[in-house]
Amino acid sequence: MKGVLLAGGYGTRLRPLTYITNKHLLPVYDTPMIEYGLQALYAAGIKDICVVLGGAKPEDVIKYLGNGYKYGVNLSYKWQGEPKGIAHAISCTKDFVKGEAFVVHLADNIFPNGIADFLKDFEQSDFDARILLVEVENPEGYGVAEINKDVLIGLEEKPRKPKSNLVITGIYCLKPSVFDVIEQLNPSWRGELEITETIHKMVTSEKHNVEYRVLQGRWFDCGTFDSILETGLFIKERMRGR
Ligand code: G1P
Repeated sequence: MKGVLLAGGYGTRLRPLTYITNKHLLPVYDTPMIEYGLQALYAAGIKDICVVLGGAKPEDVIKYLGNGYKYGVNLSYKWQGEPKGIAHAISCTKDFVKGEAFVVHLADNIFPNGIADFLKDFEQSDFDARILLVEVENPEGYGVAEINKDVLIGLEEKPRKPKSNLVITGIYCLKPSVFDVIEQLNPSWRGELEITETIHKMVTSEKHNVEYRVLQGRWFDCGTFDSILETGLFIKERMRGR
């Protein structure tokens, strides 16, 4: 299985720091944000990884991570250009993926318990996509799942009236069939090709199978100063102390 680490975007909510460097290099406690995702992929046995860049200061990421040798992985890079959404960033990796199953990890997401369990057996499965949901108190800010009697029936990006408290985290197991679905998308109200709509189309079409898992542990989305602070404190107290 191959790995894709998405590190595009301007990081506008993290200005002025993102005028100086790329959002994904900002520190979360003692480590640049992007390294958590890289280490999680490595620990799950994913060694062939493509980093998708765009937005502000992408050259800093290449300078810092290099060819991946120091992390025990083989890194390559794709240039997304203007940030046009997660699904658009994924479409930039078609030649890297070359027909294999792959996992997409958003570089601003941190899964303290790793991702190995989530990836297990996906490649051999009949599913086109596997998503990881988690229960939150404020689902409006995320992609929200609609589930009826344990069956996933749809997904909606940042809805005004969320149909549940289960939201999509930034990790997705995918098969190459996703590229055809992305080609049919139109930009959303925020001008992006949305991963949430991509998976929604797969859920509602007879041609694709999507499965979901629900995360029991912690998950962090480091998109704001407050979430970076909260994540950093968690890492300091729960992980570095061990
Ligand atoms: C993105 C996705 C959203 C998902 C979130 C997880 O949101 O669009 O569905 O719940 O990542 O971090 P964004 O960070 O683009 O607002």
